[in-house]
Amino acid sequence: MKKNILEGLLKYFLDRHLSLKFDICTCEKCKEAMLSYLVDKFVPVYAEDDSPSYQELEKGLIKKYSKEIFGAINEAIEKISKNPPHPSKHDREKEFNNLLDKIKEDRGVDFSLYHRGILKRRIALRVSATKSKSYSEYLHVLASDPKEYEKLFEVLTINVSEFFRDYSVWISIERLLRGLIASHKDKGVSLNLWSAGCAKGEEAYSLAIIMKEINKEGIPFRIYATDIDLDCLKEAEEGVYDYIRTKNVKKEFLEKYFVIKGDKYYIKPIIKDVVEFRYLDLISSPYLENMDMITCRNVFIYFTKALQERIVDKFYHSLKEGGYLVIGKSETLVYEARVVFKEIDMYNRIYQKIAIK
Ligand SMILES: C[S@@+](CC[C@H](N)C(=O)[O-])C[C@H]1O[C@@H](n2cnc3c(N)ncnc32)[C@H](O)[C@@H]1O
Repeated sequence: MKKNILEGLLKYFLDRHLSLKFDICTCEKCKEAMLSYLVDKFVPVYAEDDSPSYQELEKGLIKKYSKEIFGAINEAIEKISKNPPHPSKHDREKEFNNLLDKIKEDRGVDFSLYHRGILKRRIALRVSATKSKSYSEYLHVLASDPKEYEKLFEVLTINVSEFFRDYSVWISIERLLRGLIASHKDKGVSLNLWSAGCAKGEEAYSLAIIMKEINKEGIPFRIYATDIDLDCLKEAEEGVYDYIRTKNVKKEFLEKYFVIKGDKYYIKPIIKDVVEFRYLDLISSPYLENMDMITCRNVFIYFTKALQERIVDKFYHSLKEGGYLVIGKSETLVYEARVVFKEIDMYNRIYQKIAIK
């Protein structure tokens, strides 16, 4: 009896785990092989367990053994998919590459340089939502339903952001901007800031709010905000937000720089007017030049190290001497870049361009 219960539970966990896997074979034969691997592995567990009912066994298993179960599921998947109990029909990696090629051909974005694991997990959401059984089937959906591209880009670009995200970074940014303003006094040149991977504009508008507050000298400045997601850029230009995106904005700034209507927060023209939104693909578009500060936060996480290296090199050339690069708090600057960038705030991941003599 208990063996059946345990088998049922393991099958349930395994099915859940496999439901978003399209890069391996999940046919009945493979599933059976995976399950029997798991059952064999957990025989000692259920033999020792004296929980009387299904519910107790389920609770007990999850509480006591969940880490081991999920570890074992991954082992089973790896083992069986490397050595399936039947001749292999599909080359799933090839199918995945075909899908990426098609996206590049149709939309011009080369996702092949993004982290493969993240991409697969994100694309799996759409493969599953369209009830496709494989990447190849999903390719047909993409070809026949142009709307599907919008949904795919939504999951691939992950454009969640908020005003003054990671507040401590903004304290540092404000200090650096004060320094830049002072050094631009009487120079007659514009101070240029760039929010790269700006999502719906929250970061660029946060920069604009700080500049409005501290630029008492009235030095000329411009804020550029770029992204590959056209829908996001459109929303950014509209500048309308829910409360949740503005929760870090000080009350006085909310009153000064937003019009609140119902549950929506509209950014005022005085802020909108200093930000210029543009389409720019960090992989393939020409970069902006003469920047004093580039913020590229929570974008690198999706890129492979080789691509990060390329992008940091291009940022180096985009910056004026002494200009600043701000990356996300959970990101690190690729090792090679540390020769040409000085770390000036380790905690907030802020770097300064060093001139190569
Ligand atoms: C998580 S958001 C980061 C938003 C903001 N920088 C922040 O930290 O809150 C990542 C953004 O990077 C953009 N992105 C992804 N790949 C890109 C690329 N190749 N070129 C430009 N932007 C890209 C996405 O469209 C998305 O809007």
